[in-house]
Amino acid sequence: MLEIKNLHLEVENKEILKGVSLKIEKNEIVAVMGPNGSGKTSLSYAIMGHPNYKITKGEILFNGKKINELDPSERAKLGIFLSFQYPVEISGVTVSNFLRAALKNAKNKIYSLIEYKKLLIKHMNLLNIDSSFKDRYLNEGFSGGEKKRFETLQMSILEPKLAVIDEVDSGLDIDSLNIVADNIKKIQKKNKMGILIITHYDRILEYIKPDKVLIFDKGKIIKIGDKKLVKEIESKGYKDF
Ligand SMILES: Nc1ncnc2c1ncn2[C@@H]1O[C@H](COP(=O)(O)OP(=O)(O)OP(=O)(O)O)[C@@H](O)[C@H]1O
Ligand SMILES: [Mg+2]
Repeated sequence: MLEIKNLHLEVENKEILKGVSLKIEKNEIVAVMGPNGSGKTSLSYAIMGHPNYKITKGEILFNGKKINELDPSERAKLGIFLSFQYPVEISGVTVSNFLRAALKNAKNKIYSLIEYKKLLIKHMNLLNIDSSFKDRYLNEGFSGGEKKRFETLQMSILEPKLAVIDEVDSGLDIDSLNIVADNIKKIQKKNKMGILIITHYDRILEYIKPDKVLIFDKGKIIKIGDKKLVKEIESKGYKDF
């Protein structure tokens, strides 16, 4: 589904990714690990089409189509979803209104208010999110855990084909982590979506079990393995890789 070939990425005239190649199939979960500053978030921005991250070489293919030049909203329409490491606040826009607009953009489908409310409630129930949540302003005053829950709600309603999930587990207490991980798993199972999950910890990967684990260092993939790699990193760190 997603294929990245020899990707070189530059930001502020600095080369950040130095020839990254990977593939993610439908229903496949790929974990990306690696030390701080190794280029993981930059990879997710490149997949989503962040304008400041320039592809200088290589290509990104989605279902066989080259998407290097597409803007983020066109990529969302193809079914690519990015959950941010640092989500933004948008004042004056409620969760409900934001999601309605996102749905319209990504799915080109306009729901009547009644249909939309029904759909939203269905997804909120699925993820055990309290109904008052929909009327709050987006990320304003959200706790870390609420922000992450919002992202899973967005993922649930948009039903992407590929979700790129960047450190969704950072700053979550154990109970919130369990809920968020469980919700991502539910959505993944339901939609058979591919996942690229960036994390520093093995805990979330015990729920969202990766088929493949990639280790990044200095803008390159330095090792490819399976779940066992995660335990190795947990006990020894990155120095042996
Ligand atoms: N907008 C930017 N301007 C300047 N440098 C940047 C920018 N974005 C990324 N970089 C640099 O690119 C490198 C990779 O950053 P990136 O955020 O991709 O790392 P990461 O692997 O996600 O790290 P972490 O685990 O800390 O989240 C770092 O050296 C970072 O400083
Ligand atoms: Mg990062």
